Amino acid sequence: MRGRFVTFEGIDGCGKTTVSKKVLGRLRKRKVRAVWTCEPTRTWLGNAVRRGWAEGAGVFTEAFLFMADRSEHVDEICARMGKGQTVLCDRYLDSTLAYQAAGVDEDLTAGMMDWLRRAHLPFLLLPDLTIYIRVRPELGLSRISGRKGRTKFERLAFLGRVARNYDALAAAEPQRMKVVDGSGPLDGVVELCLAEIGKIL
Ligand code: TYD
Repeated sequence: MRGRFVTFEGIDGCGKTTVSKKVLGRLRKRKVRAVWTCEPTRTWLGNAVRRGWAEGAGVFTEAFLFMADRSEHVDEICARMGKGQTVLCDRYLDSTLAYQAAGVDEDLTAGMMDWLRRAHLPFLLLPDLTIYIRVRPELGLSRISGRKGRTKFERLAFLGRVARNYDALAAAEPQRMKVVDGSGPLDGVVELCLAEIGKIL
């Protein structure tokens, strides 16, 4: 049987990397053939994304780099699923929609999101399930150390916009995107994720 495709999303500091890796361990214990992957990937294209950050690339360059990385990653994900493996992916499409759309002026956000979504159509594999681990931006920020050279204030404002974009995405696609409260203890968050994944396995 073809494997399932589950993505984990949320703002920086929401805990999705820790949670998704724990979920992987729990699924494997249940003899589910699961694998874990992430975006940006560990390939040269993922490195190109990281180089883009280091070089201060603009939001469109950033978006194109993420999409190039994703388009290659989709092939690998499909191959895994074809072998019957369930793929857990730490960040995917919704990260680009939420983050890159937060990188343009507020009045252009909706149009940017729409354009990004359409640009993905020819190559995208839609996840069977997306788990959005939701935390308040203040909590996310308190869990991470400063990145990308932003000040704390700028970073909080940015994360607030990303969080709003994620909320809008979840509201628009409640079938695919399940919201899990990420503010509680880790084990509880993992259980909530496993319950959602259990419904599609
Ligand atoms: P993150 O999962 O936090 O990686 P790590 O913990 O290894 O640093 O992702 C890194 C950053 O990349 C994060 O701030 C979100 C951003 N990002 C985008 O802006 N767009 C995307 O499409 C993806 C996949 C990530």
